[in-house]
Amino acid sequence: MIEYAPPPDKSISIRAVLLAAFAKGRSRIRHCLKCEDTAAAISCIKALGASVAEYEDYIEIEGGNIHSPDQPLFCGSSGSVARFLCGLLSGSGIEAVLCGSSQLSRRPMARITAPLRLMGADITGDALPLRIAPALLHGIEYKMPISSAQVKTALLFAGMNASGSTIVKEKYLSRDHGENILEQFSVPVEKEYPCGGQGSDGTYYSVRITSHALKPCEITVPGDFSSAAFFIAGAQLSGMDIRINSVGLNKTRTGMLEVLKRAGAEISAEICSGEDSETSCEPHGALTFRPAALRPIYVRESEIPKLIDEIPALSVIAASIPGESVFCGIGELRYKETDRIVAIMDIAAKMGASAECRGDDLHITGIGKLPDGHRIIDCRGDHRVAMAAAAGSLACHGMALKGAACAAKSYPGFFNDFQKIFGKLILME
Ligand code: S3P
Repeated sequence: MIEYAPPPDKSISIRAVLLAAFAKGRSRIRHCLKCEDTAAAISCIKALGASVAEYEDYIEIEGGNIHSPDQPLFCGSSGSVARFLCGLLSGSGIEAVLCGSSQLSRRPMARITAPLRLMGADITGDALPLRIAPALLHGIEYKMPISSAQVKTALLFAGMNASGSTIVKEKYLSRDHGENILEQFSVPVEKEYPCGGQGSDGTYYSVRITSHALKPCEITVPGDFSSAAFFIAGAQLSGMDIRINSVGLNKTRTGMLEVLKRAGAEISAEICSGEDSETSCEPHGALTFRPAALRPIYVRESEIPKLIDEIPALSVIAASIPGESVFCGIGELRYKETDRIVAIMDIAAKMGASAECRGDDLHITGIGKLPDGHRIIDCRGDHRVAMAAAAGSLACHGMALKGAACAAKSYPGFFNDFQKIFGKLILME
């Protein structure tokens, strides 16, 4: 059995870094991810006046003395950094401009500026660059038109600086890292799951926050389940058993495991308990995955937020399974680093499967035979497309990746780790 440990969680690292800048005093973040997106978060908080000391295993952030930056805050290509900063800065008395790469400047920001304006925020623009001016915020009750953890988190962050209560409701539960990290920084949040599953307004979950100061904290970030997902796909496609250690196992994030189990996969998870789990800010543990002859995959719309970033990995598995796999309600993938539906259809076709998108439902039909021969997959500047293509290429001799360096957005060491674990050279164009 091969053993692997993924890099630290990107979603949790970014949230922790940004909140630490606004908490008065010194916070210590152990096992914080080092990648392009976290580097963007750190450079933004430095420009806002936080001091950051980076060590081998942890970073220390002295926060609470933030001021308006002299220069625009450059968010790189990170949608999370831009959206969370919008929420944090809107009611903080700071004046700032948020800008980013050309890729990030094409991504939609109205999903966050619109509800923030309802709270009283003074924001100019609905795409980067965004100008934020000081404003007094008030709490709102907001039912999100899409279930998005980024929007939910940004609104909760804004709610810390708003009068009254801010209530965010979502149709399907998305990852709850925003709620959890606020609790780590001593900010209470109230989560509510309507009895009977669904509230009268069609929502399954709501969360409330009232104005509160952040207190610095010490946390340990678990391994990134979304990075590990490509190693699960790699294990399935290369027929190798894998044990994934120290990986985050938050149930709002691991929907991929449920989907694969339904398709017949053999997966076991051991959640860490005791002393070790107390220092980690979220549930984590070890996963064992053994490849099997899988049935086609079926993903319900309600499951999408719990596996939004795992669809590229799941789709290369689907392309290898004989029969029709279906992913319902994946329209949100059009607004990621690239249009991931187009990118996934390209990978699936190059793996010999047929792929079709009907409305927001993606159908991938594998024939159980993976072709050999020279083919090139364009990674389209999208880290998760690059990593999914690498997993697909394990089973398709001659498949090469173009522009794979974009994996560094979340996982700079990906190709080293992947080639070491699976013992196969990934071809680059
Ligand atoms: C994230 C939430 C998801 C995910 C993104 C990170 C987060 O985005 O795709 O990579 O950290 O909250 P959406 O909330 O836009 O679905």
